[in-house]
This record gives sequence, structure tokens and C-alpha cells, in this order.
Amino acid sequence: MNLSLFSCEGKVALITGGSRGIGRAAAHALADAGATVVVSSRKLAGNEEVAEEIKAKGGKAMAIASHVAKLDESKSLIEKVTSEFGRLDILMNNAGTNPYYGPLMYQDEKTWDITMNVNLKGLFFLSQLAARVMKDQGGGSIINTASIGGMRASDLGVYCVTKAAVIMLTNVMAKEWGQHNIRVNAIAPGIIKTRLSEQLWKDPEVNKAAVAKVPLLRLGEPEELGGVVVFLASDAGSYVTGETIVVDGGVLHGEPAHPEK
Ligand SMILES: NC(=O)c1ccc[n+]([C@@H]2O[C@H](COP(=O)([O-])OP(=O)(O)OC[C@H]3O[C@@H](n4cnc5c(N)ncnc54)[C@H](OP(=O)(O)O)[C@@H]3O)[C@@H](O)[C@H]2O)c1
Repeated sequence: MNLSLFSCEGKVALITGGSRGIGRAAAHALADAGATVVVSSRKLAGNEEVAEEIKAKGGKAMAIASHVAKLDESKSLIEKVTSEFGRLDILMNNAGTNPYYGPLMYQDEKTWDITMNVNLKGLFFLSQLAARVMKDQGGGSIINTASIGGMRASDLGVYCVTKAAVIMLTNVMAKEWGQHNIRVNAIAPGIIKTRLSEQLWKDPEVNKAAVAKVPLLRLGEPEELGGVVVFLASDAGSYVTGETIVVDGGVLHGEPAHPEK
């Protein structure tokens, strides 16, 4: 097989939530594959740190602070990327939040709005801005970080609702924008050890219970998403659109059968 299909050389990638966790690992993976990477999140310092890490190993990167739920900031983010590089080939909508871990019964309006605005509304309008650029340049790839929480009910409440909506939004954007050679796909991780998911793995007892539910008998590391991101971003995935790729160690298939340890 021609492995150069996985190359992202000459492509410009923008990653939201790129300063930590899954986004940081994806930024490294795309840069390693040859892309010029724009690392974005609310706090500039974290973005600069990742951009510097990439540059230190010979990659191309830039940091831009932007809040995905502030549409004026998204507009200026896309303008900055296109004025700097003249194009945008890959958008990874990865910024996400979950400000409330608790029963739906007591969720308040403020945390509902934050979750919806960051995980869903911001993702949609940034995609729309990016898609207009991609349409004019002849195509592109949009990758949305969803969650297995968007595929089956869990205790993460409204967060799961936003991720289910991200999966459907992925499908409808793929259906509408395929005619412009814009592919839109999602990744649905299980528990990946990041700051966002700390409540699901940091405490040893909670960790043990979580691991027991994973057929691979371990939680995921952010770097384990990198291969899927590069596949979807590159020509290796050129006929894949409207797809959600699950990266969860097998969790959606149920607890490990016949556990031996
Ligand atoms: N970890 C998991 O187990 C897991 C599982 C399934 C799905 N996911 C999804 O994976 C994505 C990445 O999460 P993660 O686990 O890597 O979390 P993380 O390590 O906490 O990183 C979250 C990133 O999002 C940025 N961010 C947060 N709010 C933002 C906003 N309003 N505008 C722009 N950037 C914002 C953060 O930087 P700033 O603070 O600088 O803004 C940070 O870069 C999320 O969409 C999450 O829902 C995670």
C-alpha cells in the first residue's frame, strides 16, 4: 500500500481544544503527518506551548486563542488562519466541556447553556465558516470529536445529548457538503485519560470500576486517537464521509466476557 496517502503535507489544519488532551495529541499527529497546524483554545499560553513542541521537532504550527461559543471570535479565527496560510484543509472540532456531573433532575439552565453552546452551537458555526472556505478552495475534511456518550445513555446527562447531536450534525453536514468535496466525520472516544474526564478515572476505585467495563482492560490515552485523526484528515480516508469512528477499547460491545483476572 502507498503509505503516502496518509501524508498531510501541504495541508493546513485547525484544531479547537488543541492545548490539552485529545486535541494536543491530534495536533502532534497531524503535524507529524506533515500538516501545518493551528492550535486553538481559549487560553493562548496552552496553545503556544503545543505549537512550540511541534516546532521544536521540526513541524509547522501556530497558536491562536479563541472561544468556540463566541461566534465573533470564531469568525476572526477563520480569518486569521486564511490570511496567514491562504487555505484551510482540515478542521478538527475538538473543544468540549462538561460543567456538570450529576443527576438531570438538578441540572440548571446555566450549565445546560454552556454545554450546548460549546459542544454544539460553537461547533456548528465554526464548521459553517470553515466549509465556506473549503467550498471555495475545492474541498476539505472536518472531524468532530463526539463521544460514545452520544451513542448510548450514560450518567453524563446533557453532555451526552450534545454529543448525540454532534453525530447527527456530522451526518447532515456530510450529506449536504459532499457536493463540495468536503468530508465530515466524527470520532467517538470512550474514556480517554484527560483533564475533562478526570472524574471518571483519577480516583483509584472509580478507575478500577471503569477499567473493568473495557474489553481491552484499560482506559485510552490521547495519543491513541492520532491514527484515526490522520486517516480521516488525509487522502487515506478520501471516500469516507458521514461516518463516526468509535475508539473506546470495545466498551460499546459490553463488559469483557469471561474475565480471567
Ligand atoms: N476524555 C474523554 O474521555 C473523552 C471522551 C469522549 C469525548 N471526549 C471529547 O474530546 C474532546 C476533547 O476533550 P479532552 O478530553 O481532551 O479534554 P481536555 O483535556 O480537558 O481538553 C479540552 C480542550 O478544550 C479547550 N476548550 C474548552 N472550552 C473551550 C471553549 N469554550 N473554546 C475553545 N476551547 C475550549 C481547552 O482549552 P482552554 O481551557 O484553553 O479553552 C482544552 O484545550 C471534547 O470534545 C470531549 O467532549 C473526551
